[in-house]
Amino acid sequence: MPRFDPRAYKKRIIVTWNEFAPKYHSDWASKDIGPFKSTSKVVKISRIKTGDTVLDLACGTGVVTKKISSKIGNSGKVVGIDISPGPIEIAKKWNTKKNVKFVVTDVEKMKFVEEFDAITCQYGLMFFPNVQLVLRKVRKFLKKDGRITVAVHGSKRTAPYFSCISSAVLKFIPDFLPIGTPTVHRFGTKDLLRVEFKKAGFKKINIYELNFEYKPGTYEDYWRDYFTNLTTPLKKKFKSLDSRQFVAMKKMVEKNTRKFTKNGKIIFPWKVLVLTAVNPKKLSG
Ligand SMILES: C[S@@+](CC[C@H](N)C(=O)[O-])C[C@H]1O[C@@H](n2cnc3c(N)ncnc32)[C@H](O)[C@@H]1O
Repeated sequence: MPRFDPRAYKKRIIVTWNEFAPKYHSDWASKDIGPFKSTSKVVKISRIKTGDTVLDLACGTGVVTKKISSKIGNSGKVVGIDISPGPIEIAKKWNTKKNVKFVVTDVEKMKFVEEFDAITCQYGLMFFPNVQLVLRKVRKFLKKDGRITVAVHGSKRTAPYFSCISSAVLKFIPDFLPIGTPTVHRFGTKDLLRVEFKKAGFKKINIYELNFEYKPGTYEDYWRDYFTNLTTPLKKKFKSLDSRQFVAMKKMVEKNTRKFTKNGKIIFPWKVLVLTAVNPKKLSG
């Protein structure tokens, strides 16, 4: 069984997000649906104001960055960073204001000459293999008393869109992902999220719970959408299944979605946690 290797994982992240970014942007991030109802809330909760200098971590196609750029005015500045060039290309196309800049870089390696009044990160934290390293860097580039605002998905139980499929897939293809690969549910409870920020020395930690719904249509719609969105590295894994196993896996997914199905249509609950915290002291080094 392969074990988690951060370098190989980051390479796969880049391939995956370069491939998935157009669909992610058009079908999810740019729409006010399901978990993306959080985008305006994250910016509101962050209390970013006119003239602020802001850093948006794992900015993807720039949905949070754009809202920030409208809020800070011409005297402010926002920098969006992401490890994958594909999402950044999309972000640049529709974020044309002079107060926005995008940079392709791994958050674990980020370097800046400026310091920031605020830092945001929507649906990125769970992908960083070394979160403590990232949070130490955040404390280095965030001003004293500057605020970080982070949105993450809930647990397997509270954000079952992912887990209804992934739990079945892992039963049939146990090496679908190497052991120890970070999951989207990694910070899916208030305790898990709070511990990480406390450990990194942040103060005034607050966590808000947002409860959304996502309606993917019928079970068949949900299944089809998953498979059409599957990126090349994962698609290859399904080739190991014979047709009997494939049918059994699909049945298991259908069973997992039953408790969320009403009149033939799935309604997934989708919990999102939004954390805010303050940097008590700028770290040097
Ligand atoms: C779910 S998207 C979130 C994008 C955006 N924040 C939003 O709310 O739509 C996750 C993003 O994290 C980026 N990412 C993953 N690991 C990263 C890393 N180590 N450094 C920078 N970006 C990373 C991916 O490339 C992807 O664009």
